[in-house]
Amino acid sequence: MVEPSTLTATQLIQQVEDAHTSGVYAKRPVAIVRGLGAKLWDAEGREWLDFAAGIAVNGFGYGDRKIVAAIKKQADTLIHTSNLYHTEPASRLAARLVANAFPSKVFFTNPGTEAGEGAMKFARRIGKDQGRTEYVVFEHSFHGRSMGALSTTWTAKYREPFEPLVPGVHFVPRNDLAATAAAVSEKTAAVMIEPVQGEGGIRPASPEFLRGLEALCRVRGCLLVFDEIQCGLGRTGKMFAFQHSGVVPDVLTLAKPLAGGLPMGAILLKDEHAHHLKVGDHGSTFAGNAVCAAAANAVLDHLEEPGFLDEIGAKGLYLQRGLKKLARKHEGAIAEVRGLGLMIGVELRGDAAAVVKGLKEKGILAVKAGDHVLRLLPPLVVRRGEIRQLLAALDEVLATGAGSPAA
Ligand SMILES: Cc1ncc(COP(=O)(O)O)c(C=O)c1O
Repeated sequence: MVEPSTLTATQLIQQVEDAHTSGVYAKRPVAIVRGLGAKLWDAEGREWLDFAAGIAVNGFGYGDRKIVAAIKKQADTLIHTSNLYHTEPASRLAARLVANAFPSKVFFTNPGTEAGEGAMKFARRIGKDQGRTEYVVFEHSFHGRSMGALSTTWTAKYREPFEPLVPGVHFVPRNDLAATAAAVSEKTAAVMIEPVQGEGGIRPASPEFLRGLEALCRVRGCLLVFDEIQCGLGRTGKMFAFQHSGVVPDVLTLAKPLAGGLPMGAILLKDEHAHHLKVGDHGSTFAGNAVCAAAANAVLDHLEEPGFLDEIGAKGLYLQRGLKKLARKHEGAIAEVRGLGLMIGVELRGDAAAVVKGLKEKGILAVKAGDHVLRLLPPLVVRRGEIRQLLAALDEVLATGAGSPAA
């Protein structure tokens, strides 16, 4: 142990936290103190450029005036009531989500996992009379960590220590309609998919595949659930990722960026199915909390600003163009650049961890998706100059051999 007097502020925070918390997170030795826009400052005053955005949560970066003001105002007025009473922020938010998505009823949650879990319960409730209790999901999926949501998550190392999980979950390859059709049976309650996989490596489903899924679910009488917890709410350059394919799901789950950094998720259930839910079927004490709802209304104010979503698409193309140029220059390291809007994966031939480390040494925070994909999720308000800064840093990191198979 280091002598307390010689500890930096970061080391002190780290040591106390490491001694008293569960240890399930592989935390970087960085203690973040404050942020503004796409920039963060740590306990030593070092500046960081954030290309992870709290793992797609901080869509509007840090210190957004409108979101902060909405939180402060609501906190001064009323923080929490439980779901036994109505509040204006939650009622307005539900109406606005429905107006932006499709005719549906909203159930608020806290994290994304709870939205995935709730979607699984709703699908079983709706299919109950027909004995529909099973799920068809996709390889490389990530839907959360609770027992139900974990059952539909692909990564074996997340699932296996906690088995047995919910039975009747079938994994099939993405973009393979024949395999999906073979897995769907009269017992299937729902087919659940991320239109753009996040954790699984930034893999967009093809619009044709999503249209095929829609037809399949309609013919076989099961629900189609889109998990837009990571890819929804502007991230792909449209309000919702489903709008790229035109496929409207039966159930839509949202979370991460919804309340500007406060914990809030939502499940939207198409109107035609809503009559299946009865009072008492589900619940969540904190969900729909007035402060979170007020923050989410401010997030929607931003997303609804004319031209804002188009600008995300334009900046995403700008970033992808720059990355593709780097892919030509560093073809030994970059195998593919893919994604939609500001949700971009750089598939490396070597180890993504080495590239994340190299970027960190240059003051840029990024995350991996699996062992080989560098996942870029900057705040939606990232500036073009900051995109150029990332590209220049990545160029230098790749030039060291990081990301190449031999490195
Ligand atoms: C697509 C998707 N679904 C569900 C979740 C789980 O959300 P949370 O961590 O908020 O519970 C995540 C989190 O990364 C996700 O990316």
